[in-house]
Amino acid sequence: MYRYIGNKTKLLPFIINKIKEMIGDRGTVADIMAGTGTVALELKKQGYSVIASDVMTYSYHHLITNLQLANYPSFKGVEDRINKENDCCPYINVLNYLNNLQPKNGFFFREFSPLGNPINGTSPRKYFTAENAAKIDAIRECINSWVQNNQISNKEESLLKHTLIMAVNEVANISGTYGYFLSSFKNNSINDIKLKPVKLYKDNSDGHTVMHGFAENIAGLITADLCYIDPPYMKRQYAANYHILETIARGDFPDAIGKSGLRDWWDQHSKLCTKTKGLQSFSKIMTEISCDKFLVSYSEDGLFSLEQLEDCFGKIGKVEVQEIDYSRFKSNDSKLPPKLKEYLISVERK
Ligand SMILES: C[S@@+](CC[C@H](N)C(=O)[O-])C[C@H]1O[C@@H](n2cnc3c(N)ncnc32)[C@H](O)[C@@H]1O
Repeated sequence: MYRYIGNKTKLLPFIINKIKEMIGDRGTVADIMAGTGTVALELKKQGYSVIASDVMTYSYHHLITNLQLANYPSFKGVEDRINKENDCCPYINVLNYLNNLQPKNGFFFREFSPLGNPINGTSPRKYFTAENAAKIDAIRECINSWVQNNQISNKEESLLKHTLIMAVNEVANISGTYGYFLSSFKNNSINDIKLKPVKLYKDNSDGHTVMHGFAENIAGLITADLCYIDPPYMKRQYAANYHILETIARGDFPDAIGKSGLRDWWDQHSKLCTKTKGLQSFSKIMTEISCDKFLVSYSEDGLFSLEQLEDCFGKIGKVEVQEIDYSRFKSNDSKLPPKLKEYLISVERK
């Protein structure tokens, strides 16, 4: 997928092995803080039935694409708009159409490019070159109009937004997250943005459920054989660090606040990033979900100590901890040590 705080690509073999050990190689697994969808997709590949959700809207589009699409959809509603160069694949034709749209000096150009003029009067921001920001505006507004006029289905919308987010990540002028932009454009960011077809995983694409919202609110709706919980480890809020991806996913035009241009993200503020409410959230989720087995990822330098987690989870069931040596997620300028311990904590309800 892409660089994302806490992405589990490197830990997948450990997570899947543990899940197999706990429930065997079939059953329903819930991934309720699914992020980029890396774990959910691997669970689909391994033959599980998956229920996946996250509080962020971009995650919803990644999950629909990765879990529920076996083939590229037909894009019937926009077929008269696109050149049919490639008769066998409307998705490719749609991407060609979007890639060739006339750039537009819109919201991204104004708020996130050096030739822009932010509405709040701060200096122009440099998340994207002016050319790329204007292309993103044209693509976003085209997708918006297709959605508003019911010309594309929900799955087609998710596939296009997923594809746009992947392309945006390749040209963003950032150091790891979207919390701030770099003062001068780095090499990847001066390339022209281009939508590229994403690969779909065909097999086992039926019967998966994708939800959107806080795990604390959704838990009561879920029944699963095992629930995988991959929470934030630190105080850093995902909604703040990935605000631009959220704006693409929602297709809206929020106020860009302060020097860095963050959207107001309070509606997606996570209690799991706070010392005061995090453990209560874990308890609520584990109590309300219809599931007897949990696997929780956490790290040595997370907000809560292993003892605090063992104490909290111990009230739900029997706790076991596996320790894994791991390389840390680092923004490019971080001075933190490169290695740390990652925990896989299994809990079996009493
Ligand atoms: C460590 S990341 C998950 C990474 C994911 N496993 C991957 O490989 O990409 C944590 C995720 O939890 C989500 N999150 C934080 N608090 C949440 C909550 N209370 N309910 C649902 N999702 C939450 C964040 O949006 C973020 O995507």
